[in-house]
Amino acid sequence: MNEWYDAIKEAQSVEKLEEIRISVFGKKGVLAEEFAKMKNASDEEKAQIAKDLNTHKSSLMNEFTAKKITLQTLQLQEALKAEYIDVSLYSAKSSAGALHPVMETMDRIVEYFSAMNFAVKTGTMVEDDFNNFEALNLPKYHPARDMQDTFYFKDEMLLRTHTSPVQIRTMMSTKPPIRMIAPGAVFRRDYDLTHTPMFHQVEGLLVDEEGKVSFANLKYILEDFLKYMFGDVEVRFRPSFFPFTEPSAEVDISCVFCKGSGCRVCSKTGWLEVLGCGIVDSNVFEAVKYENVSGYAFGLGVERFAMLIHQIGDLRSLFEGDIKLLEQFQ
Ligand code: PHE
Repeated sequence: MNEWYDAIKEAQSVEKLEEIRISVFGKKGVLAEEFAKMKNASDEEKAQIAKDLNTHKSSLMNEFTAKKITLQTLQLQEALKAEYIDVSLYSAKSSAGALHPVMETMDRIVEYFSAMNFAVKTGTMVEDDFNNFEALNLPKYHPARDMQDTFYFKDEMLLRTHTSPVQIRTMMSTKPPIRMIAPGAVFRRDYDLTHTPMFHQVEGLLVDEEGKVSFANLKYILEDFLKYMFGDVEVRFRPSFFPFTEPSAEVDISCVFCKGSGCRVCSKTGWLEVLGCGIVDSNVFEAVKYENVSGYAFGLGVERFAMLIHQIGDLRSLFEGDIKLLEQFQ
């Protein structure tokens, strides 16, 4: 019997121990065998053998149970060690894409004006002279039509130089009142630190009955919009000129970099120009055959907004598709 005590002691796994259990306690196991042998013995011997075997049976059972618990505990500890997850480790880097900063900025702008009930219009990038210039009170001799600014095709077709033609397209196809914005790409022959031949604008146009739309309305919504985009900035309106608005203004915000104290970005003025706007010129309404209406319009450059929001120095870097740069804006 002693070899079975050793066998239990030396068992290295739960499986091995189970084999031993069957060999010792099973129907054809050693104990059953030994008990069977008893029938040939005398009565006194029988009693002694039975006593001895029963003692072995219960001590072996004790050994077995103890060993089983030990082995199961060991097995559990090993499993825990092998399947241990260190939640403080950095996970594998996700390579999910993200919106380009220009598109993200455009989305934010559209989000604001959508919430203010402005419909989103797109227009077309290839435009004709009438929509891009003529109807916007930009007559043939106007310097903005200069070959140096505009990409021309044949037959007075061109790449739109601003999103303002979408004002014309919308008014030509809809009756007032109008409340629209037009986000989209525009094109000019320009290339330096702050100009690229393609960039994005968002146009805004509101038209209602004569006398209903005032400069105060325009001022209110643009101030609110600029605070939505840039946070707690000061907003100022400066008289300016656009052929399609009268009066016209350019809108500045207090410099987001130096908070107005004067730095390189704002050329020491404390102000950054971000918008053009004004009351729609009566010549524009005449061109689209609108009568007894009033309205305001505004236009802004999306790249400029993105550069100010993300503090990007060179506009051209936004179009180089450099993943290292773009990843910073995820
Ligand atoms: N279209 C003008 C530009 O490209 C911006 C503008 C739009 C100004 C509407 C006033 C009103 O500079």
